[in-house]
Amino acid sequence: MDIQEARLKIEELTELLTKYEYEYYVLDNPSVPDAEYDKKMNELKEIEANFPELITADSPTQRVGVTPRETFTKVEHLVPMLSLDNAFNEDNLRSFHRRVVQQVGEDVTYICELKIDGLAISLIYEDGKFVRGATRGDGTIGEDITLNLRTIRSLPLTIKERGRIEVRGEAFMPQASFLKLNEQRKADEQSLFANPRNAAAGSLRQLDPRIAASRNLDLFLYGYGEWQGPELATHSEHLTYMQEQGFKVNPHWKACSTIEEVIDYVSYWTTERPNLAYDIDGIVIKVDNLAQQEALGFTARNPRWAIAHKFPAQEAITILHDVELSVGRTGVITPTAILEPVLVDGSTVQRATLHNEDFIREHDFRLGDTVVIQKAGDIIPKVMRVVEEKRTGEEQEIHMPTHCPACDSELVRIDDEVALRCINPNCPAQLVEGLIHFVSRNAMNIDGLGEKVVEQLFNESLVKTFADLYRLTQEQLVELERMGEKSANNLLNAIQASKQNSLERLLFGLGIRHIGAKAARILAMRFESIEALQKATYEDLVSIDEIGDKMAESVIQFFAEEKVIALVDDLQQLGVNMVYTGPKQATEKIESPFAGKTIVLTGKMEIYTRPEAKQLIEELGGSVTGSVSKKTDIVIAGEAAGSKYDKAVQLGITIWDETDLRNALEEIENE
Ligand code: IVH
Repeated sequence: MDIQEARLKIEELTELLTKYEYEYYVLDNPSVPDAEYDKKMNELKEIEANFPELITADSPTQRVGVTPRETFTKVEHLVPMLSLDNAFNEDNLRSFHRRVVQQVGEDVTYICELKIDGLAISLIYEDGKFVRGATRGDGTIGEDITLNLRTIRSLPLTIKERGRIEVRGEAFMPQASFLKLNEQRKADEQSLFANPRNAAAGSLRQLDPRIAASRNLDLFLYGYGEWQGPELATHSEHLTYMQEQGFKVNPHWKACSTIEEVIDYVSYWTTERPNLAYDIDGIVIKVDNLAQQEALGFTARNPRWAIAHKFPAQEAITILHDVELSVGRTGVITPTAILEPVLVDGSTVQRATLHNEDFIREHDFRLGDTVVIQKAGDIIPKVMRVVEEKRTGEEQEIHMPTHCPACDSELVRIDDEVALRCINPNCPAQLVEGLIHFVSRNAMNIDGLGEKVVEQLFNESLVKTFADLYRLTQEQLVELERMGEKSANNLLNAIQASKQNSLERLLFGLGIRHIGAKAARILAMRFESIEALQKATYEDLVSIDEIGDKMAESVIQFFAEEKVIALVDDLQQLGVNMVYTGPKQATEKIESPFAGKTIVLTGKMEIYTRPEAKQLIEELGGSVTGSVSKKTDIVIAGEAAGSKYDKAVQLGITIWDETDLRNALEEIENE
């Protein structure tokens, strides 16, 4: 074959394979068997191997780039990526409709779409080619994740449109891929992802695109940003246009000409939702006509022409058989309900959190009770309430222990905390949890050191302190159950490699109270070495924007302890890096969605207690106040939020629900 023939053949195969991929991944309707696709793909690979100079970026063989990146570059969204106001019930939807009608008159059509529970993304095409994919970030500045997005097979690398266009949508992980991924991770003793959304986010944040490629991600497009395509008059025309260009648009969107129809659509999907192959967390309602959208305009952060109806979390009924007590890293005793296994939201639930003793007393849970459990996107669901009608009188009271289930020392309650705590610094359960935290993904990130192995190492007295990890030998490791030569070797390499980690990982891993991954990074960037941080005064610490007084006090207290000083010394002797080697502050300023913001909490909270939510927000630089005014930036509304919610709507203030809060907090933790 000469180069001329090769060029033609490559063109022909590229076109054919692109068509097959479109049919398979976008339309879900392949026209040829998989073997035929594989055959053509191999043919193309072979020709490209002989004529590497003919390989183009949009060749189907080039979805996965070869060189991993060092960091993600920041990109600017010329048209900001906004978020939506939330509605939680019919009333909220009707008041949205009233406001729309007031502004643009009765003649309104709404487009209802599924609210995909994934990650907002932006894709830019120029001259028919996919040139840039980015995360939303803070709405104005996102991260360039082009290489990872390219690996999503339903994303077209080329389109017919030649003008520069930006389409926006949601990248997500289908439930089946999520379950499979977590099964694999469990087998490999890696930490599990809490839900498909986190798994998708984690996959797209990988610097090595081969990882994203292996994760079976998918996407749906539902909007646009920059636009040099044809001028269209409605949102639905945009959806159709995107579909024609080969983009994957969710097929379940519907035009509704009355609010009643909208409400019907919402209630239809509230029941149908478990039958989808991917998670949705609500319905998005958009005014169809773009001229009307323009007339309605925006508040500071949200369009006035759209609203998201959030679904309540999925619930199920089951029996509370037993209560298991566990001791956390900080000594907090957490009761976990052991339940009759029940299917919720596509997975079997047999454990659920009971938070603390007060929670058990308040709800009067007893062993043998029929209870309602709820899954709100976490691995561990919550027990919500008792079904009183099912009481037989046989139920047994739950007794909280007076002594630590692990070390038998007396439990205490500190100040106004609701939690019971074991304050024995040598409590084995706490030490093990501390070690598990130290090696975890966001801390020292030691691959192959799962919970089971840590427990074994601890029980065999091979590892008692973080430093002991760095003294382990091949001989010691192979003695462990289920540990072969090869895994022992890999583990030692991983431990060795972790010595090079930049300081923030060590700081986070040390488990300083109130210092999460984000705060650890801020401290590491600011002080650059552990030595400098150890010398920092309270004033030095609180002078940093994002560091509050609780954090500062905790850092001071931590480094004043003899044991800590000895440990840091020990780690240093063993060759663990103690300086910051990450990107420079100027390019990597961490944004907190709460910094400098005024936030109001209202309604019944389920995921966090009020004081917890308040503390978390304050740690991230936000202030929490009691009443809604023009100065309020975000209202976080729990269930049955009343007048404060209405006022926020009236003033056009961004309204979040608790899952938005949790998602925002998790995103920061994951950074
Ligand atoms: S429209 C300006 N449509 O929900 C309007 N968003 O706060 C932009 N989402 O950040 C959003 N499915 O990540 C829209 N069909 C859909 C959606 C959707 C999921 C996400 C998106 C956005 C958030 C809304």
